[in-house]
Amino acid sequence: MLKLEDLWSRGESFLGVPYPIIAGAMTWISDSSFAAAVSNAGAFGSVAAGNMPPEMLDEEIQQVKNLTEKPFAVNLITIAPHYRDHLKVAAEHAVPFIVFAGSFPRRPEIQAAKESGAKVMAFASTESIAKHLIDNGVDALILEGSEAGGHVGHVSLGILLQQVLFKIDEVPVFVAGGIATGEYIAHLLLMGAAGVQLGTFFVMTEECGTHPRFKEAFIRARARDAMSTPQISSELKVVAVRALRNKGLDKFNELQVELIEKRRNKEITQAEAQYEVENYWVGALRSAVKDGDVEFGSLMAGQSIGLVDKIRPLKEALDFLIQGAQQELDRISAKF
Ligand SMILES: Cc1cc2nc3c(=O)[nH]c(=O)nc-3n(C[C@H](O)[C@H](O)[C@H](O)COP(=O)(O)O)c2cc1C
Repeated sequence: MLKLEDLWSRGESFLGVPYPIIAGAMTWISDSSFAAAVSNAGAFGSVAAGNMPPEMLDEEIQQVKNLTEKPFAVNLITIAPHYRDHLKVAAEHAVPFIVFAGSFPRRPEIQAAKESGAKVMAFASTESIAKHLIDNGVDALILEGSEAGGHVGHVSLGILLQQVLFKIDEVPVFVAGGIATGEYIAHLLLMGAAGVQLGTFFVMTEECGTHPRFKEAFIRARARDAMSTPQISSELKVVAVRALRNKGLDKFNELQVELIEKRRNKEITQAEAQYEVENYWVGALRSAVKDGDVEFGSLMAGQSIGLVDKIRPLKEALDFLIQGAQQELDRISAKF
C-alpha cells in the first residue's frame, strides 16, 4: 500500500512540518498572520518580503515568531530595491528558512543565509542552474512551472519535471505551478517530488487576508483567464507575469510601448525602464490585494484558478488536499 507519509517523508523531515505543502510567498498577501496560520495548521508558511521597507520586514518576522513556534520561510526577491537589507534582517532574526526568488542568489548571499542558521531554498529552471545552486550551497530547490501565478518562467511544470526533477537527487526538490488537488500531489510525489508549493489555491482560504473583491474575482475566473503577459519588443525585457485579464493587464501593454518610446528618445536608461516595469507590478498588485481595485490592479493568479471555486477555512483546504492525495494513492495501490 502506498502511504502519503512515506512518499513525502523527505520533504517532511527537511521542512520540519507534518505536511510538506508550502504556501508559496505572495507579495502583499503572505504576511505574518497568514504565514503563521499555515504553519500552525501543519503545512509550511512563507512571509513575502516583496518590496517592503526593511523595518517592516523586521516587524513582520518578529510577529510570525510571536504567532508560531513552527518552521516558516522568509522569501526574498533578489532584484528588489531593499534586497540586501532584507537578507540582513532575515539573518539577524535567524529565521529557519530563507527562499531566494527573483533571480539566482550569489554564493556569498547563500553563505550569509546559511551562516545565520537558515536552510536555503532557491528556484531552478534548468538542470545546470540546479547543479550550480547546489554547488553554491542551496539546501533544496523549487521547480515552478509557467502555469503558476505571479512572475513566471516560460516552461511548464511537465517539462521541468523531466528536465530537472528526474535528474536531481542530491537535495529535496519541491514542485509548484498549477497544483490544486490532492490527486495531482500524489502523482508528483510518485515522480520524486519531496513536497509541493501552492499559491493560487491558498488565496482561496478564509485566513488569507486579501480584499474580498480580490477573492471574488478568483471565484469567477476560469483557467484560461489567467494569462501570461507578452513582452512586446526585445528592446524592453519583461519578465512574464501570469494574472487574470483585466484593464490593468491592457494598461501594462501600453506602459511597455511608452517605456520603449522613452528609451528610443533617450529620456530614460534601460535600468530605469526596467525599474518602472517592476514598480508597476508591485503597485498594481497592492491596489488589487489591499484596496480591491480588481479593474486596474493586478490579479496575479495561476491557471489552477480554474480548479478553485470556493473560499474555505485553511484546515478544510489542507484536509481536501491530504485526503485527495491518500485516496489517489489507494486507487493506484488497488491497481497492483
Ligand atoms: C499574487 C501572487 C504573488 C506572488 N508573489 C511571489 C513572491 O513575492 N515571491 C515568490 O517567490 N513567488 C511569488 N508568487 C508565486 C507563488 O509563491 C507560488 O510559487 C505560485 O503561486 C505557485 O503556483 P500556483 O499559483 O499555480 O499555485 C506569487 C504568486 C501569486 C499568485
